[in-house]
Amino acid sequence: MVIISRTRTKRRFFGSIGFKITIAFLLIISASFFVTDVLLTGSVRDYLYNQRIRQDSLSLEKLAATVAPLFQFGQVDALSETLVSSGGELGGRLLVLDNDGKIQFDSFSRLMGQRSQLPEVVAILADGKSSSYGIHTLSDADVTVQDGDSRVAYCAVRIVGTGGSLGVLLYCAPVAELIDSLSRVERELAIVFVIVAVIALVVSIFFSNLLTKPINALTRTIQKMGHGDLSVRAKVRSSGELRTLAENYNAMAEQLESMDRTRSQFVSNASHELKTPLTTMKILLENVLYQPEMPDEMRAEFLGDMNHEIDRLSNVVGDLLTLTRMDSNRLEMKRTKLNLSDTVQETIRLLMPQAEKRGQDLIMRVSPNIVMNGDRSKLEQIVYNLTENALKYTPDGGQITVTLQVRGHNAILSVQDNGVGIPEEDQAHIFERFYRVDKARSRDTGGTGLGLSIVRQLVTMHGGTITVQSKPGQGSTFTVQLPLDDEED
Ligand SMILES: Nc1ncnc2c1ncn2[C@@H]1O[C@H](COP(=O)(O)OP(=O)(O)OP(=O)(O)O)[C@@H](O)[C@H]1O
Ligand SMILES: [Mg+2]
Repeated sequence: MVIISRTRTKRRFFGSIGFKITIAFLLIISASFFVTDVLLTGSVRDYLYNQRIRQDSLSLEKLAATVAPLFQFGQVDALSETLVSSGGELGGRLLVLDNDGKIQFDSFSRLMGQRSQLPEVVAILADGKSSSYGIHTLSDADVTVQDGDSRVAYCAVRIVGTGGSLGVLLYCAPVAELIDSLSRVERELAIVFVIVAVIALVVSIFFSNLLTKPINALTRTIQKMGHGDLSVRAKVRSSGELRTLAENYNAMAEQLESMDRTRSQFVSNASHELKTPLTTMKILLENVLYQPEMPDEMRAEFLGDMNHEIDRLSNVVGDLLTLTRMDSNRLEMKRTKLNLSDTVQETIRLLMPQAEKRGQDLIMRVSPNIVMNGDRSKLEQIVYNLTENALKYTPDGGQITVTLQVRGHNAILSVQDNGVGIPEEDQAHIFERFYRVDKARSRDTGGTGLGLSIVRQLVTMHGGTITVQSKPGQGSTFTVQLPLDDEED
């Protein structure tokens, strides 16, 4: 287990943004440093060589002028003396070669009579140059200054006598100093590189921490949320994209939490609404069950009450089903072209007996033949719920007026009553689920507080709006506005 988790941690580290940033930093620094290094050492090398060439060629040209008459006229002693002393002054080895490349004099007196194929000599004798310069490694150098030198520099100039070219004056110089300077530059550059790389590493770790810290914090928050704690929020600290990410995450978490709260409240309210009629039914049933001597009329009354409770229960369950279907977008709209006037009239007629029973005056003022594109059963439910409320919350003998007319591109349905009315502070809440103004009285009339919330959602599904105007003790008017030329499905 431990090994597996360590491997996973390792893999997570190598795949992390922090690791990638560090590597990217190091790669960029190394690549740019490598290029700088190559260019810099190249130009330092060129500079040092050029300086050396200039110095050596100048002194050698002077010397060639001195040597020319001595060589031309065969003053051998004077020539070797000059060469040995000048070679000592210059710190190198001097050789005189004739026009055939044969060594005639050597300040080290070793190679006399041999032929030299050095490119610098060839450049003068064969190619006609007046001077030539080059640095050689020991493997291709046949003339050295001292044993153990890994490189030597050759500088050759033409010896010109009175009759033209006499040969070549070759100077062979140790370049250890030059090489030393170069490798010192390279060493120093390498040290600078290491310092810069360490700084880059520290800076990249700092920056990647800056970036990954809020991301890791957000990941931890999301993990906590995944384990069920919806109250956790990400800390909004950084700026730019990470700030937007944290803010958006928090907004999403807020919404999830509120949805969760609404849902659990809905479940608890729904259970409560179901429990009440069940309790009542159980009491009624026990009465009938344990009192066999109960008079028949009483028993009939109890059974009637039970029947009423069952109706209520099935109404509540029906409403709950409608609401959950709406919540999960499973309540389909079955739009058809329909005569809204007829639909309203037919629905009101269903409630007529109820109104008559209570001596209420249910008046219809419906403009004929208003046609719209809508879902018939949903429109029926809107009219039914509003009118049922008006009857329910209006005392016996009251008056309820249902009006339907066209205003502009809308059908306006209004349900007006002269009943109990709704206090100002409750008007904003009556469309919420389970909200009842007077809980005790609603219980008597059998209300659950779901009717209006369903109505509002059905109206919205038709692209319409619903408003209420009411004064306690005077009555209420609910006004529904439905767009007539709403073409969308
Ligand atoms: N016409 C009205 N006059 C006075 N109060 C009303 C009227 N219509 C609704 N109300 C108030 O608004 C509340 C919410 O109404 P709603 O129709 O949503 O629930 P309900 O009628 O109590 O129960 P149900 O779910 O059976 O319809 C009611 O409980 C009532 O207090
Ligand atoms: Mg109602």
